[in-house]
Amino acid sequence: MVGFITFGLVAWLSLLALGQSTAEDNVGAAGNSSVARQDGKYVIRSEGIVGHFIPYGASISNLFVQDVHGKVRDIVLGFDNATIKNSTFEIDGVKYHTDPNDNNKNDTLHGGSKGWDYRNWTVEAHTADSITFSLIDPDGSEGMGFPGKVIAYVTYTLTPYQWHLSMTAVSLTKKTPIMLSSHTYWNLDGFQNPSTPLALNHSLFVPSAGLRVETDSIGIPTGNLLANKRGGVNDWWSTPKQLGANITSRDLLGNCGYNCTGYDNCYVLNRDAQGPYNWRQAPVAKLASPFSGIQVDVYTDQDAFQVYICNNMNGTLALKKTQGFFNDSSHPRVVNKYGCVVMEVEGSMASIIRSGGAEVDRSLDQVTMLMCLRRLTSSL
Ligand SMILES: *[C@@H]1O[C@H](CO)[C@@H](O)[C@H](O)[C@H]1NC(C)=O
Ligand SMILES: *[C@@H]1O[C@H](CO)[C@@H](O)[C@H](O)[C@H]1NC(C)=O
Ligand SMILES: *[C@@H]1O[C@H](CO)[C@@H](O)[C@H](O)[C@H]1NC(C)=O
Ligand SMILES: *[C@@H]1O[C@H](CO)[C@@H](O)[C@H](O)[C@H]1NC(C)=O
Ligand SMILES: *[C@@H]1O[C@H](CO)[C@@H](O)[C@H](O)[C@H]1NC(C)=O
Ligand SMILES: *[C@@H]1O[C@H](CO)[C@@H](O)[C@H](O)[C@H]1NC(C)=O
Ligand SMILES: *[C@@H]1O[C@H](CO)[C@@H](O)[C@H](O)[C@H]1NC(C)=O
Ligand SMILES: *[C@@H]1O[C@H](CO)[C@@H](O)[C@H](O)[C@H]1NC(C)=O
Ligand SMILES: *[C@@H]1O[C@H](CO)[C@@H](O)[C@H](O)[C@H]1NC(C)=O
Ligand SMILES: *[C@@H]1O[C@H](CO)[C@@H](O)[C@H](O)[C@H]1NC(C)=O
Repeated sequence: MVGFITFGLVAWLSLLALGQSTAEDNVGAAGNSSVARQDGKYVIRSEGIVGHFIPYGASISNLFVQDVHGKVRDIVLGFDNATIKNSTFEIDGVKYHTDPNDNNKNDTLHGGSKGWDYRNWTVEAHTADSITFSLIDPDGSEGMGFPGKVIAYVTYTLTPYQWHLSMTAVSLTKKTPIMLSSHTYWNLDGFQNPSTPLALNHSLFVPSAGLRVETDSIGIPTGNLLANKRGGVNDWWSTPKQLGANITSRDLLGNCGYNCTGYDNCYVLNRDAQGPYNWRQAPVAKLASPFSGIQVDVYTDQDAFQVYICNNMNGTLALKKTQGFFNDSSHPRVVNKYGCVVMEVEGSMASIIRSGGAEVDRSLDQVTMLMCLRRLTSSL
């Protein structure tokens, strides 16, 4: 248990069911890195928190925590099993961004159709509370054109009420633009809020996000940074705000691209403006749902923070067995537009932009992220 988190307003009950291993998830656990559970998932757990992971995209498939109603909720999107032929959405795996000032501005932002999120990673190690995946990407990246042979590692670890994530990628042979990030889709109600299947009532606070990266109509950075005006639709810094607070504002139309109403924006975390800082001291973001009382505090050493509120979901992606309402036609078991939210931490796009596109050596990228799950007794 790390010491820097203050659980001031928080009262977690002791969770007997969560955190204790079961006969079922011992299959493949505890030391044998090569064996998964029958459904292809790898289970890790700690007090109050259980995660399931799959090799496809080195991604999380389930994250269970208990809410204020005493119900265990699965608060991320993912797959019911690991037999994924073709994913219908960008899964919660590891992303591999290219330099936004790359000559080819034709959007290879997520590593393309054979990006790392669409590959089966190798399980290097698996213990009761931790799993490490690796991937070797050959020079040319299977036709995606990225130079250099790249090796990447991702480790997920659970400690009481906390999910730790660390990612490293290094190019062994040539300079190459690597920008790692992770891409978990959250619905802190586990799609089980009887009043709404949407995430628009979740509140978000990103206190350092004074600037955002300007993009063109298809989401490619223009090279400018914009100020997020107080009270404007992109103001997440002055006070916590519901994701849907400005959903009917005219200013939100086009905010995520041509004819797109919502958010898919990269906010710049200006934490270094006042000099050196310790990223463990304060979260860069807090996301909370009033219905479940579940809050995720995000800590990271990265200095950009992307927010996407599932503008492009359209009711075709199915919920998991662990989510939603069964046999109730008024609650279709699908993810709707605005049904989820992604908080992506990533590297210094701002420094690349500020350097005027001069070549930045990103042959090594390391990302550390910690998500502290809390159950609120008062609202954000
Ligand atoms: C791990 O599982 C593999 C595949 O079933 C098996 O061959 C190996 O002996 C197991 N190793 C240990 C340490 O149990
Ligand atoms: C795995 O999940 C997919 C949908 O996510 C489903 O079509 C398939 O039947 C499932 N397979 C097993 C073995 O449960
Ligand atoms: C990944 O592994 C799963 C389960 O073994 C398999 O069904 C799937 O085809 C593999 N996908 C890729 C892209 O190799
Ligand atoms: C599934 O993915 C494979 C490999 O990327 C691709 O060749 C195939 O066309 C895809 N199938 C569908 C139905 O999208
Ligand atoms: C995008 O790619 C096409 C060909 O694939 C090329 O003609 C065009 O110039 C590219 N656009 C930019 C902005 O680089
Ligand atoms: C969502 O928030 C709005 C505005 O605060 C409120 O009117 C509405 O009742 C909330 N809905 C749910 C389902 O919590
Ligand atoms: C956005 O929502 C906040 C909170 O409700 C409000 O104070 C602000 O005026 C809204 N801004 C716009 C541009 O609608
Ligand atoms: C804009 O988006 C709306 C729905 O989001 C759609 O109905 C409409 O046709 C789109 N308009 C244009 C000009 O693309
Ligand atoms: C819904 O989204 C999926 C995945 O992006 C897409 O394949 C499908 O065509 C969309 N359906 C509609 C009706 O827009
Ligand atoms: C939903 O209804 C079907 C058919 O009546 C039943 O077999 C199934 O168990 C129900 N599922 C749940 C979760 O209640």
